[in-house]
Amino acid sequence: MKVGVLQFTPVLKDIRTNYQKIEKLTEGADLDLLVLPELCTTGYLYKSTEELMPLAEEFPGDKSSAFFTRLASNIGGHVVAGVAEISNKEIYNSAVLFNANGHVATYRKIHLFDREKEIFTPGNLGFPVFDIGAARIGMMVCFDWIFPESARSLALAGADIICHPANLVLPYCPRAAVTRAIENRVFYLLADRVGSERRIDAELTFIGQSKILDPGGNILAFLGTDEALITAEIDPAQARDKFVTPRNDILTDRRPEFYR
Ligand code: ACM
Repeated sequence: MKVGVLQFTPVLKDIRTNYQKIEKLTEGADLDLLVLPELCTTGYLYKSTEELMPLAEEFPGDKSSAFFTRLASNIGGHVVAGVAEISNKEIYNSAVLFNANGHVATYRKIHLFDREKEIFTPGNLGFPVFDIGAARIGMMVCFDWIFPESARSLALAGADIICHPANLVLPYCPRAAVTRAIENRVFYLLADRVGSERRIDAELTFIGQSKILDPGGNILAFLGTDEALITAEIDPAQARDKFVTPRNDILTDRRPEFYR
């Protein structure tokens, strides 16, 4: 199957421009699975829940659901995208899965980063895995990576591919992602953003370094800080072989009774 990761600079509060950027950067792409960054329609640095509220959307809903459905149809596969989701007046930092028929699933970021704790409600949907035909995929969002339990939960639930929309500001994740791929023997699609956002009391610069990794932690494609689409041809069956030696299956060799 062919997978892709789009890295770009979303414009804060300008959903229409962000649709246009995503469309332009993915024009002509033919992919089974495309992963976009965290909060890719709205941008990241909001001052409060109230400020983000008018831009947050329900999934399935209208505007962004129509956009991601069209994007999935254009690429001929599934799309995972980071969004601001509103549900019962709560705002979640979510990743949504779409295909050409519309919304398939939602994951809500479980581990909120820094000031996100003042804006979003922590996720409440666990770490589900979805069968998209060519592979089983799971989603996590940005800071979830620093808890190895996130990737491990997805691997234990049968994910062949971890889809990881991110807005990274700390330098560690692009290196740690290699370890997460190796220790779970999964493909790993890290879709980060680039650029800076500046508000009166805060400024963030996002580090880019998006990657496509195989279950051996090998880098199949990577970016620095450019806005671009990277792609790779992968065989998801590789992620179903959990043996690192003939006697060591990394999932069944676990000793959870000793993990406290
Ligand atoms: C992050 O979780 N957006 C750093």
